[in-house]
Amino acid sequence: MRVSLARHGANPLRSTSGKGNFTLRPGIAQPSKWHQQRSLNTSTSSGPSVKDPVIFSGIQPTGVPHLGNYLGALRQWVKLQDEASPGTKLLFSIVDLHALTVPQDAKQLRAWRREAFATLLAVGLDPKRSTIFYQSSVPAHTELMWILSTVASMGYLSRMTQWKSKLQLPEDASLDDSEARAQLRLGLFSYPVLQAADILIHRATHVPVGEDQRQHLEFSRYTANSFNHLYGNIFPIPEAHISPAKRVMSLKEPTSKMSKSHPDPKSRILLTDSASEIQKKVKVALTDSEAKISYDPTNRPGVSNLIEILSHFEGVSCQEIASEYESASLRSLKEHVGVRIADSLKDIRERYGQIMGDRGGYLDDVAREGGEAAQASADLTMKKVKKAMGL
Ligand code: TYM
Repeated sequence: MRVSLARHGANPLRSTSGKGNFTLRPGIAQPSKWHQQRSLNTSTSSGPSVKDPVIFSGIQPTGVPHLGNYLGALRQWVKLQDEASPGTKLLFSIVDLHALTVPQDAKQLRAWRREAFATLLAVGLDPKRSTIFYQSSVPAHTELMWILSTVASMGYLSRMTQWKSKLQLPEDASLDDSEARAQLRLGLFSYPVLQAADILIHRATHVPVGEDQRQHLEFSRYTANSFNHLYGNIFPIPEAHISPAKRVMSLKEPTSKMSKSHPDPKSRILLTDSASEIQKKVKVALTDSEAKISYDPTNRPGVSNLIEILSHFEGVSCQEIASEYESASLRSLKEHVGVRIADSLKDIRERYGQIMGDRGGYLDDVAREGGEAAQASADLTMKKVKKAMGL
């Protein structure tokens, strides 16, 4: 059963201005690589042969998603959805269990889950086409995690970077360090196994993510191969689909990626920021004191980040933007970037407000139905897995 929007009278995704439906497409120029990507290749080097693509991705509910999440992931999810062939299955999850790998306040987490869910709808994911769900509403994700943990390599996990960066340990830290062992919790260490389970439980073939997830995707592929090797060809080997906006950088520390955890809120633009908040944040973005504008990510990371952001919205190359602005002031570049971002996010912010303000239960209904559909998808895989393992 699908949620009937009509049942709720005021569909929060329907324009009240008399202009009909909001388009659910922010109308943003997409980089050409994605235009060319009409159909997804389902032939993988190993794993079972697959007829139709299955697209899966997830986002942690740790605050309203920011511009890095949008350009690096969410915008591509919507694009894939809108261009998908009829047989393509699409699933997008608010991965709330992953958020528990660091301590959370229950009330805060409850609010963040809803905000993240509303954002996925606001950016243009359509519950009639995509299954959108909370990870914790589908217990098979954790069930498969246990099964995969019986084949997952400890050596591989110990070389991965995320647990070290979360604990602020050096990249070469290992389980031999007593400091690392004292701080490390099993959930944080085994985070990539749950991520592999998220992907494999739906037998996903394509996983659209930003560059920072590449290592996790490699681990998922490795673990799928290990399982298939032992128990038979159950899992397709998932392919990472890295967005052209691989890594949107922090506005305050442009050598690090824009993130939800940076202590300075001016380091990131939230999808719900107002136009004036966006313009202020871009105005105070850290740049340098060189007079001219040029694109040079190594030596001029701050200016280059702004140029890259603009290039993702305008669909033109960074070099073209740099030469257009060569003799302009940094101030005018910043003004243009601020206005461009604010204009592009305007519809998303409005839809977000409508969805969060809806009192008809729309979001909860979509989440419940998404959970049911995801559980059905997961059950099919668990049947195959259990049969293969003798359970
Ligand atoms: P998360 O919640 O950190 O980020 C969600 C998505 O946003 C992308 N992203 C960025 N892209 C470009 N520039 C940035 N500054 C930037 N910051 C974030 C991320 O690459 C990601 O695609 N481990 C995952 C969640 C996850 C998942 C999964 C993803 C759990 N299970 C299964 C894919 C498949 C994470 O923490 O994403």
